[in-house]
Amino acid sequence: MAQINPSILSADFARLAEEAKAVEGADWLHVDVMDNHFVPNLTLGVPIVEAIGKATDIPLDCHLMIEDPDRWAPQYVEAGAGSVTFHAEAAAAPVRLAREIRAKGARASMALKPATPIEPYEDLLPELDMLLIMTVEPGFGGQAFLDIMLPKIRRTRELIGKHGLELWLQVDGGVSATTIERCAEAGADVFVAGSAVYGAQDPAAAVRELRAQADA
Ligand code: DX5
Ligand code: ZN
Repeated sequence: MAQINPSILSADFARLAEEAKAVEGADWLHVDVMDNHFVPNLTLGVPIVEAIGKATDIPLDCHLMIEDPDRWAPQYVEAGAGSVTFHAEAAAAPVRLAREIRAKGARASMALKPATPIEPYEDLLPELDMLLIMTVEPGFGGQAFLDIMLPKIRRTRELIGKHGLELWLQVDGGVSATTIERCAEAGADVFVAGSAVYGAQDPAAAVRELRAQADA
């Protein structure tokens, strides 16, 4: 079954505990960490991740859009994240980092910006629990879905099959009622949705509807 991870980037940051409760039934809560260096935007860090984790039973899917994830990612596991995603473009030693995240007890995940190809990372896939293919340039919610990423999603799904891996394939950026079916058809199985969930009248219903569409 498809997993739907609402992104709290589109939530009200002054009411994060309630906003987490508003998406009851979601598989993971997607938390976008931005440092104003790796991306031109600044969001939140370790103490807020820790506070959100205490406020909800939904496991946290932390997406680190930061420089030097080798240094910081383990701290997000300690803060309570169940899954930690670092960017391939930022990690100095991705294999070592993925192993460290797993050893600390979280799922290890790596993200690729739109211009980063999957092929150079084929041999790393067994080290990962999830691969994130960005379907917008990271940094902001509410951007238009990049259809040109669909072939990369398809190729990645093929590589996962070729190696017989359990790896989850996540898409993030512009995922909505109008784009989720294309992503699912291409092989994604974990869907981040910010504006499509928190911009809806009933965020929990939006999660259910997106999941039904992805599974259709
Ligand atoms: C963008 C973030 C996304 C963002 C998605 O850099 O990584 O998680 O919240 O927002 P939407 O779903 O509105 O494109
Ligand atoms: Zn994200």
